[in-house]
Amino acid sequence: MSTETDNNVGILGIEVYFPNIFVTQVDLEIANGASAGKYTIGLGQDEMAFTGDREDINSISLTVVKNLLEKYEIDPKTVGRLEIGTESLVDKSKSTKTVLMELFAESGNKDIEGATVVNACYGGTAALLNALAWVDSSAWDGRFAIVVAADIAVYADGPARPTGGCGSVAMLVGRNAPLKIDLRTRTTHATHVWDFFKPNMESEYPTVNGALSQTCYLTALDDCYSRFIQKSKAIRSKDSCVENTDYFVFHSPYNKLVQKSFGRLLYQDMVMGVRDNSAIAKWLSMPVEKTYEDKELETALKSASSAAYKAKVEVSCVTSKKVGNTYTASVWLNLATLVSTLGNELLDKNVTLFSYGSGALASMLAIIPRESGDSKFNLSGIQQQLSIAARLAARERLSPNDLSAALEAREASHGKAPFVPTFSVDKLSPGTYYLDQITERNERIYKRRPLNVPYRLGVSLLSGQEDYDEKFGIDIDGPPSALPTVPSLVRSGFAESVIKRPSLTRSETFVWATGRPNVNVVVTGIAAALPGRDGEVFPTGVNNVRRIINGESFLGLIPDAVKDEMLSKNITVSKKNLDGTIMKVPINTYDQCINVAASLGRISLAKYGISESIIGTMDRAVQVAIAAGLEALKDANLVFGGGEGTSGWELPESMQNSTGVVYATSFPALDTAIEEVSKYFKSKSIDHMDIPNIISGLRTRLEKRCGNLSQDNLEALNSLENLIHESISGHDESKRYEFDRKFLFRVLVLGNAQLAQIIKARGPNMQTNAACAGELFKALPMSFVIV
Ligand code: ACO
Repeated sequence: MSTETDNNVGILGIEVYFPNIFVTQVDLEIANGASAGKYTIGLGQDEMAFTGDREDINSISLTVVKNLLEKYEIDPKTVGRLEIGTESLVDKSKSTKTVLMELFAESGNKDIEGATVVNACYGGTAALLNALAWVDSSAWDGRFAIVVAADIAVYADGPARPTGGCGSVAMLVGRNAPLKIDLRTRTTHATHVWDFFKPNMESEYPTVNGALSQTCYLTALDDCYSRFIQKSKAIRSKDSCVENTDYFVFHSPYNKLVQKSFGRLLYQDMVMGVRDNSAIAKWLSMPVEKTYEDKELETALKSASSAAYKAKVEVSCVTSKKVGNTYTASVWLNLATLVSTLGNELLDKNVTLFSYGSGALASMLAIIPRESGDSKFNLSGIQQQLSIAARLAARERLSPNDLSAALEAREASHGKAPFVPTFSVDKLSPGTYYLDQITERNERIYKRRPLNVPYRLGVSLLSGQEDYDEKFGIDIDGPPSALPTVPSLVRSGFAESVIKRPSLTRSETFVWATGRPNVNVVVTGIAAALPGRDGEVFPTGVNNVRRIINGESFLGLIPDAVKDEMLSKNITVSKKNLDGTIMKVPINTYDQCINVAASLGRISLAKYGISESIIGTMDRAVQVAIAAGLEALKDANLVFGGGEGTSGWELPESMQNSTGVVYATSFPALDTAIEEVSKYFKSKSIDHMDIPNIISGLRTRLEKRCGNLSQDNLEALNSLENLIHESISGHDESKRYEFDRKFLFRVLVLGNAQLAQIIKARGPNMQTNAACAGELFKALPMSFVIV
């Protein structure tokens, strides 16, 4: 029995990482003006993950290794080898492996072999083969090896750009592995070709000969596969043709190439005669180098392989179709997806894996899923830890403009020192490492997002808005389990509410902001002031928005007194006759009046802790707007309300400088102006007349002329006196008209400023009037309270 079989060397545990933001290929097709289906069918890709200037090869490797150590509870002292495969270098000398040693510093373990291995898309496989050889060798000291495959795939503008992506995979390597790798049957193809390379140190982008790279890939596949079949037969007495293999895992630059590759395996089986070859009979005599670009053969192979592709390949491709090319990580991400999807169902199944790297270097390996008997390192354990489908589903979809912004930011930052990244760390999932700064000496400083701070949907990509961790005072080195306690926020419970709030139910949209790409806008809180003549505008404990959604009507009958006022205005309606002439019809009766209306009810700002003297400076429309703004903040869980005065309605300190207020209104201060002018003129007319004297004069004159007045006349005069008395009551000298300076505040329309004062919002503050479209304004990438 060989050593390999005895040791069962392979993968004990896997962790993957991909960014939480992605763009769909359909959106990219539209944005790039590509024909419909070009990226989705032509390249076979669904989505593409991307990242801004906060992440680099070191950070995505730190993230995945730290998460692997934590998830599998690996004592850093028990790791003896650490090796990274990547082609996303940020330094020509300092290897990412040495940066990762930071994770082992506290344990004091400095005895860790391994370095960074460079080869386009293949470095991870090379690193894994090194680690497996060490674990299997007589030099092995019983400790784990960790292998990282990580890359950020970005392309210059052009046909290759939609084949980008970003991701990392960390594999814990040891003996008695549930994913055994058969070292004896592996085959390798190594040549010197210029299909894809990165000669330009000033740029992250590769130089690509796309067509050549596909041919090189397929050539390497053919070569590896034909020898793999032979070796499997010779060494394992195993026929590893497509028919006898349960699953295939490929390096996946884009899914279409995987589909073609799988067809190619069938072609090889047909050429070798282990499969009916009638479908490709006419190509059997064709020189193999001519077959790679033969579209007719490709189509024949596609239809011959489509059922088997669905059964044996598709399951492993789910993540790479949604994340894109992750270069060295791609094939291992696909293996992780297979395990994450099937877990124990893989037991006793055969898996063949093909890894390709441009330049070129490729290998085919047999992965043998097996029962390890280990309580920690087993297939179902790996499946649980990975949970890839849930992680993919939790990502945030952004726009092609966001992708462009991210790529531009990466371009701008390339080679810069000193440098502070511009992207918000809020876009990173909990536990993600990020580049905090590059010092003048070109040293890169990294920090980690706490595990207990949620990813926040809808915040700006750019960090101008806030550095969430710092502004919220969260101790990034603190224990991951405890919720952050932020003194300034404790009173409002804000931190807790944000953490618990998934935000997923909130409405998102994209807004073009001048000078910036489309920004992602999210509505986090909403309130609606509702009509209802006899009710309160914001009844306590009632959700007005819910009432609208429930279809409640807020119309009411107009009282007669209001109709009287309408009639007294001698309104006429214009009616068009059949001959086109217009007739003015006066409105004289209640029937002709408007009878139903949505009229405003009672509003009291006192219940928000606002003092009567301040309320006195506000027009009624402003009062309603302020109440709506406060209720919306409460709905967004940004304030808790209550407390002394207006203290419970103040924004968290961290948001005060970056929150603006927009007040849109169509008839600002009109109520106040009319009321004031009416009051003034009334004082000059009816209030100034000596009405009682006039009536008593009338009574005297009538008595003089008619003698004693009849009972009817007396009653008429008495009721006239009462009426006049009622209408002028209260207009005594002490309440005569007097100009109140608060009138100025009311007509100035300060609703936006007054709301900002209450909530302590120090951002842009404006009032706009565009009739009923007043709330449509150009948003800046920051928080706004729009009332
Ligand atoms: N609907 C459906 N299919 C379409 C449409 C459409 N509207 N438009 C085009 N297509 C198909 C084409 O027919 C073609 O299909 P085929 O491959 O079956 O012939 C496919 O989409 C690609 O279109 P092309 O015009 O042939 O190629 P394009 O100019 O878009 O470039 C390429 C594609 C070469 C893959 C490019 O994206 C690239 O260079 N990528 C990077 C290189 C790469 O990934 N190489 C792979 C190995 S190396 C590595 O891993 C980095």
